[in-house]
Amino acid sequence: MAYIYKAAVIGGGTMGGGIAQVVSFSGLPVVIKDINQDAVDKGIAAAREVYESRVKKGKMTQNEMDQKMALISGTTSYDGFDDVDIVIEAVSERMDIKKAVFAELDKVCPETCIFASNTSALSISELGAATKRADKVIGMHFFNPAPVMKLVEIIPGLETSEDTINDVMQFTTELRKTPIRVEECAGFLVNRLLMPFFNEAVYAAQEGAATLEEIDAAVTGFGMPMGSFFLADMLGIDIAREVQHILYEEYGPRMAPAILIEKMFQAKRFGRKSGVGFYDHGSGPDAEEFVKNAIAETQAETGIKGTSFSFDRLILPMINEAAYAVQEKVASPNDVDLAMIMGSGMKKGDTYIGPLQLADEMGLDVVLEKMEALHKELGVERFRPAPLLKRKVKAGHLGKKTGRGFKEYSLETV
Ligand code: CAA
Repeated sequence: MAYIYKAAVIGGGTMGGGIAQVVSFSGLPVVIKDINQDAVDKGIAAAREVYESRVKKGKMTQNEMDQKMALISGTTSYDGFDDVDIVIEAVSERMDIKKAVFAELDKVCPETCIFASNTSALSISELGAATKRADKVIGMHFFNPAPVMKLVEIIPGLETSEDTINDVMQFTTELRKTPIRVEECAGFLVNRLLMPFFNEAVYAAQEGAATLEEIDAAVTGFGMPMGSFFLADMLGIDIAREVQHILYEEYGPRMAPAILIEKMFQAKRFGRKSGVGFYDHGSGPDAEEFVKNAIAETQAETGIKGTSFSFDRLILPMINEAAYAVQEKVASPNDVDLAMIMGSGMKKGDTYIGPLQLADEMGLDVVLEKMEALHKELGVERFRPAPLLKRKVKAGHLGKKTGRGFKEYSLETV
């Protein structure tokens, strides 16, 4: 076990600043590096804001905040990198940029230093191969907002050593987060499951099945902490689009992105950070008008409108993708559910629940029937049932009511 005494974060964006706050909060020194001072300052300011809010709420004293802030430093060079034990890279989601950063880090960091990437969806194995230490390269995927969301997906690449995995799992626990090991695949686990849920919301909106507000109300009405469009505006529509393209490329037609997202992206309506997205965030007030026109345009282009809306339409693609992830052994059913709870705050009513537990409670035969009905109605690959789901139904593993579905249940307590 290698001890981690000092960390560095590359990139002073929202995630970089949030991760630096998380590291400093655990009591470790952390240096934020970016290419210009402005970006470094923004990262430090983001961390400061989180502490200020805690002080305001009486959750920590000013003195405690000052001590935590003193652990964060900033740099535009690699000064101070000769004794870092772990670097967490959180730069733009571009493989060429990340590879260039890792090549530089290889030269300035100690041989023992672990390189972790906060990438949302890019290949950890490919990043590892761009360094001279593939055994020490790993995915460490935080969720937005990083100071709040409990999950960190830990993704080993093909050559990542068990020692590196163990060290990073332990380090994540020390950051007071929940590490879940996820086998490498496009989108890893939470984005792979959350994106089909969001994408279907966009399809429903662009087909006029329901308005953005009605869809968001159905999502929060079910128990999710945020409506899908509200969440997309928080994450950044540019980022959601990027992740969707990575998923589409890997998994094919069932991940085909809804056109409305592309229209939002082309118009540079990225969400909260650009002042306007699906909703107005300061630089509006024409979000509603723009979305309405973009929907009319999309309907004219695709000829598809007036499809039906239900919450099932949104949640079934998530459940189906969870079945694929289990089938591919990306994570165990328990970890799939835990990851969705910790990474997206998924709830039904007031109860935290993951997609597989939800499917087991609905009955896998019912899930399959609903998938097949939507597949017939909409005629799209997004609703073709996953082979594992069909196999389970054929075997009579129907969920809670039969004692086993994706998980096992004691029939006496059912
Ligand atoms: N930064 C720091 N802290 C924040 C914050 C932010 N941006 N937003 C909220 N908080 C803090 C608040 O200060 C508050 O702290 P205290 O408990 O100490 O008072 C706490 O979070 C709860 O906030 P609120 O009471 O204001 O609001 P809420 O109860 O609605 O919670 C939320 C906010 C935790 C963000 C919740 O809405 C939620 O869980 N949303 C879902 C977010 C999600 O799905 N994230 C994952 C997206 S996918 C991703 O990130 C991966 C990727 O690669 C794209």
